[in-house]
Amino acid sequence: MRIIKVDNYNVLSKRAADIIAAQVLLKPSCVLGLATGATPEGTYQELVRRNQEEGLSFSEVKTVNLDEYKGLSRDSNQSYYYYMNQHLFSHVDISKENTHLPDGLAENAQVECEAYEQLMNRLGGIDLQLLGIGRNGHIGFNEPDESFTNTTHTVALTQSTIDANAKYFESEDKMPHFAFTMGIGSIMRARKILLLANGDTKAQILKEALTGPVTPKVPASILQLHPDVTIVADIQALALFDK
Ligand code: GLP
Repeated sequence: MRIIKVDNYNVLSKRAADIIAAQVLLKPSCVLGLATGATPEGTYQELVRRNQEEGLSFSEVKTVNLDEYKGLSRDSNQSYYYYMNQHLFSHVDISKENTHLPDGLAENAQVECEAYEQLMNRLGGIDLQLLGIGRNGHIGFNEPDESFTNTTHTVALTQSTIDANAKYFESEDKMPHFAFTMGIGSIMRARKILLLANGDTKAQILKEALTGPVTPKVPASILQLHPDVTIVADIQALALFDK
């Protein structure tokens, strides 16, 4: 595991964009696993800039996103589909048909989850998976659990996650309480993983996840066993590492 400590969010976004750009240069037809949330917004902004100003091309890239709220349509402005278009896909030369997220309105959740897992297999697996980390250690929407999940599934969001994300919705009851998420196994099968964390609200969980026991109670702790993980985190998020 490599830990890259940066001074601030701006540098974090640039270092993360460097790694994603390197992956795209190495394999222009690569499969990128993408994440949502506040953390990667700056990274996407930097990738858009490199596409528009420096010719970094996504024309052959394929993407699969980690998760999607169950019950939100693609044109809902809080869906992750909407987020991805708003922050990245609409501004770069990626083909929309090469971008994939679970369908929040899928009639049959189980069929949707199986199809999503098959899609990842058909694409040949994920070359580089981008991750944030939830305050309770979740990755994707894999909440603390009794065992590590394997494949894409439906999940009930915990109160900690509802509290963290309700601010994006008009009110807490407008926020879906269920989501589709890649499993921990789906994430661990990615060839490389890039996890981003910034700010002091992530300090405690980052320390637990990276230095504590590997346990499904802290889903991100499983990353300690992955052979190719890079963490890019700012001083605040790494504050407890020196203690
Ligand atoms: C969200 C997403 C995760 C994300 C995490 C942290 O709920 N499902 O993929 O990494 O929570 O979000 P943020 O970056 O806003 O702190």
